[in-house]
Amino acid sequence: MKTRLLLIALITAIAGMGTSLAACSSDDDSNNGGGNDAGKDTSPPGNDSGGNSGATFTQVYDQVISQKCTSCHAETFPDGGPRTPAGGLLLKPKATAHQNLVDKTAPGGACKTGDAGTANIKLVAPNDSENSLLSKKIRPNPPCGGQMPLNKPALSDSEVELIDSWIENGAKDN
Ligand code: HEC
Repeated sequence: MKTRLLLIALITAIAGMGTSLAACSSDDDSNNGGGNDAGKDTSPPGNDSGGNSGATFTQVYDQVISQKCTSCHAETFPDGGPRTPAGGLLLKPKATAHQNLVDKTAPGGACKTGDAGTANIKLVAPNDSENSLLSKKIRPNPPCGGQMPLNKPALSDSEVELIDSWIENGAKDN
């Protein structure tokens, strides 16, 4: 009789432990969940800072160039009529824009023909925004010609930073 009671007590105890173990592990799960969430929370800023230190050309083209530059740097006017790209610099479509910017010198315009000594400076020198004409042309007082977009509101700080970060990230066609 005593043995049975002991057994029952033991079983009850074990079952109780099981329950509390289960409770513990579900606590652990929710903690882990919290941990994962925290992990997820840090990853978007991580990606963002990755973005800040390395914007893609797709971001640059979609957010800035196609919005604010191709009205003039294209072979057609926005209404479809033919034109010569401003400054001889064609920035449309995207692949052409990349080709015409990276490791290229100014094709025409004030940067090519002016006296500023900018004819041999690359429009985009990968990893070197400080020595990229494009970077200077989107800021006040460029060394040649006017600030881009010409005669329009200046780019925002974040648009300027986006372009610089793409250049600093190797100016890839990504
Ligand atoms: C309203 C028309 C217009 C818009 C919009 C415009 N540009 Fe220009 N761009 C010009 C003209 C005109 C020139 C040549 C004269 C000069 O450099 O100031 C030029 C020249 C340039 C040059 C130098 C090319 C060379 O060979 O000298 C760069 C680089 C440039 N633009 C980049 C841009 C970028 C980037 C944007 C958008 C943020 C932009 N432009 C928007 C009219 C425009």
